[in-house]
Amino acid sequence: MKIARKPGTLYCVARTAALSSHANRIRTPSRTETQEERNYMSEPHVVIITGGGQGIGFGIAEVFADHAATIVIADLDQTRADEAAHKLKQQGATDAIGLTCDVANRASVDAMVAVVVERFARVDVLINNAGICPFEHIMEMSAETFQRTIDVNLTGGFHCTQAVAKHMIERGQGGTVVFITSLADHRTGPSQVDYCASKAGAFGCMTGFAVALGPHNINCVGVAPGHVNTPMTEHWWGSDAGKAKIPEIIPMNRLAQPRDIGEACYFAASTGRYCNGITIRVDGGNAAQA
Ligand SMILES: NC(=O)c1ccc[n+]([C@@H]2O[C@H](COP(=O)([O-])OP(=O)(O)OC[C@H]3O[C@@H](n4cnc5c(N)ncnc54)[C@H](O)[C@@H]3O)[C@@H](O)[C@H]2O)c1
Repeated sequence: MKIARKPGTLYCVARTAALSSHANRIRTPSRTETQEERNYMSEPHVVIITGGGQGIGFGIAEVFADHAATIVIADLDQTRADEAAHKLKQQGATDAIGLTCDVANRASVDAMVAVVVERFARVDVLINNAGICPFEHIMEMSAETFQRTIDVNLTGGFHCTQAVAKHMIERGQGGTVVFITSLADHRTGPSQVDYCASKAGAFGCMTGFAVALGPHNINCVGVAPGHVNTPMTEHWWGSDAGKAKIPEIIPMNRLAQPRDIGEACYFAASTGRYCNGITIRVDGGNAAQA
């Protein structure tokens, strides 16, 4: 069952039924568009989501799959990537594959992008989502742990964006790059100093790429989730103390679902493509609260 909210936007109510017909999922313009507009606003076809094997990345994958995109799950964990791709296909995705990739390793990133370009001949959207948060007090943290967080959360986004953007520029059809940052791109506590530094760096990286890639019709945005219940954070949100905190810190009185983050990413990659160099906060009002 599908509910059409407005021309070109379909709202999936019963996922399996809603995904049965491809044609209905393709955006229908409400008026005749120019070729230039079509190039600029065309539906994302091939989407790479790093760290898409679980949590937020998988929620993002589900949203793009609902819009008929082909999904590439690029995850450090091959089994997780394969299972996620399999699940997406069971849910009706056009196509989905799982690839092993360590975003902190340039050779691994280049190999992953080469496989995608070879197989699909295009990449429309890159979601830099892979991330880690060791939650260790800064005075006890080893230099290696600090460095690994920077390598994955910050340098990983640099590697992936540079590799994918080279292909996007060569293809000449534009694209979108999303950096999944965090409210911790500007505030933190003693057990997330490495994480905050990496996310603040990712914000800077995103704005620099936005300026460099804008002339190629590639927009870059940050999407900053607030609190999302995922394997990364379930040790806290699953606890009684965590649950009790929710109404206190989140005006909307609930944690975000991974799909909430996916909707912001999809907006940035479709009708919101003129957004460039900005961060969209998806936090239920958490950061707005005094
Ligand atoms: N959960 C939250 O509340 C929250 C809030 C703000 C931002 N974020 C950010 O959202 C992103 C996803 O977080 P999550 O909560 O879904 O985490 P998660 O731990 O549940 O999932 C992360 C995924 O990334 C993969 N991964 C880890 N290192 C990798 C690497 N080097 N290369 C490729 N893949 C790698 C893991 O295998 C895993 O599948 C992260 O960037 C995180 O910092 C999360």
